[in-house]
Amino acid sequence: MRVFITGGSGFIGSHIADRLIARGDEVMVIDNYETGRRDNLTPQDRLTIIEGSINDVALMEKLFDDFQPEVVVHAAASYKDPDNYIGDAETNVKGTAVVVKNSQRTNVKRIIYFQTALCYGVPQEQPITLNHPINPDATSYAISKTGGELYVKMSGIDYVVFRLANAYGPRNVSGPLPTFYHRLTNDKPCFVMDTRRDFIYVTDLVDIVEQAVDGKGDGAFHISSGKDFSIKELFDSTVKALGITMKEEVEVRPRHEDDAATILLCPNRTKEVYGMIPATPLDEGIERTINYYREFGIQETYTHLRQPDKEPAHAGK
Ligand SMILES: NC(=O)c1ccc[n+]([C@@H]2O[C@H](COP(=O)([O-])OP(=O)(O)OC[C@H]3O[C@@H](n4cnc5c(N)ncnc54)[C@H](O)[C@@H]3O)[C@@H](O)[C@H]2O)c1
Repeated sequence: MRVFITGGSGFIGSHIADRLIARGDEVMVIDNYETGRRDNLTPQDRLTIIEGSINDVALMEKLFDDFQPEVVVHAAASYKDPDNYIGDAETNVKGTAVVVKNSQRTNVKRIIYFQTALCYGVPQEQPITLNHPINPDATSYAISKTGGELYVKMSGIDYVVFRLANAYGPRNVSGPLPTFYHRLTNDKPCFVMDTRRDFIYVTDLVDIVEQAVDGKGDGAFHISSGKDFSIKELFDSTVKALGITMKEEVEVRPRHEDDAATILLCPNRTKEVYGMIPATPLDEGIERTINYYREFGIQETYTHLRQPDKEPAHAGK
C-alpha cells in the first residue's frame, strides 16, 4: 500500500512509518521539523522523506500527483506556542484543508486524523464519551485541530479520527515525561500539577492505527487506556525508572485554570471495533521511554500550555 504520512518525522508519525515500512508498505513522509526530529526516521527503501510544509499548496499538489497515496495518515500539527494562532491555523486548519483537497482530487481511499482530547474542553463527564459536546475554545491548538477534524469529516472521503489521550513512548518530546526526565537528570527542581491523565503507550496506539490504515472502523474513536493516573504517579514511576532516590516528596501544585483536572476517554467503541485497548503497563512503558531518552537525549520539549514560570512540569496534548 502507498501511505502518505504528514508529520511523519514526529513522535507518533514516525512510529506509524516504521510499522508500515516493516510490513512492506511504501511510505512518503512530509515534515517541516517544527517539533519533529531528523533522527526519528532511518533512511531506507520504501521510505521517501520530504522536508516541507503541508500548507505549501504547490508542493503538496506535486507530492500527491507523484506518489498517488492510497491512504493518508495526517499526523502533522502545530501546537508549541499557545499564542501562535496564525501558525496553528496555518498548519492545523489550512494545512488540513490542503491535505483534504488533494486527497479528494487524487482519489485517496481513506484519511486517518488525530485529534486532541482538549477538543472536549473541561470535561462534563468521566470517562468522556464520544457524544460529549465539542468545546475547543480554551486553546488555539484545540480550536485549530477541531477545524481540521471538521474538514476531514466534510470531505466525503472515508475517514477515521482518533481522539487521543496522552501518548508517550520513545521519541515523545511533549508532555510531562520528557520534562521530568530532563529536569531530574540535570539536577533541577521539579513539581507536578494536581491533574490526572490517561496515558497510552505509542506502540499500543500504532496497533490500532495499523488496523485503521487497512480499512477497519469509520468515524471517531478514542484511543485510551481506560484508566487515568495522577501526574504524581507518572513522576514517581519516572524516578523509579531512573533509579533515583528523592530527598523529599515532589511538590504538587494546583492546576492552571485552562487545564482539566482529569481527562479520561471512554475506549468502548475502540474495543468493540478494533478488539483492543492499549495494554502496556505504565511502569513498563516509562522504563522503555527512559531508555530511549538515555540513548538519544532530548533536544527540546514542547507543550501547548501556557508556562508563566517557564518550567513546565506537566501537560496534556
Ligand atoms: N502525543 C499526544 O499525546 C497527542 C495527543 C492528542 C493528539 N495528538 C495529535 O497526534 C498527532 C501527532 O502528534 P505527535 O505527538 O506525534 O507530535 P509531534 O510534534 O511529535 O509531531 C507532529 C509533527 O508535525 C510536524 N509539523 C508541524 N507543522 C508542520 C507543517 N506545517 N508541515 C509539515 N509538518 C509539520 C512536526 O515537525 C512534527 O514532526 C498530531 O496531529 C497531534 O495533534 C497527539
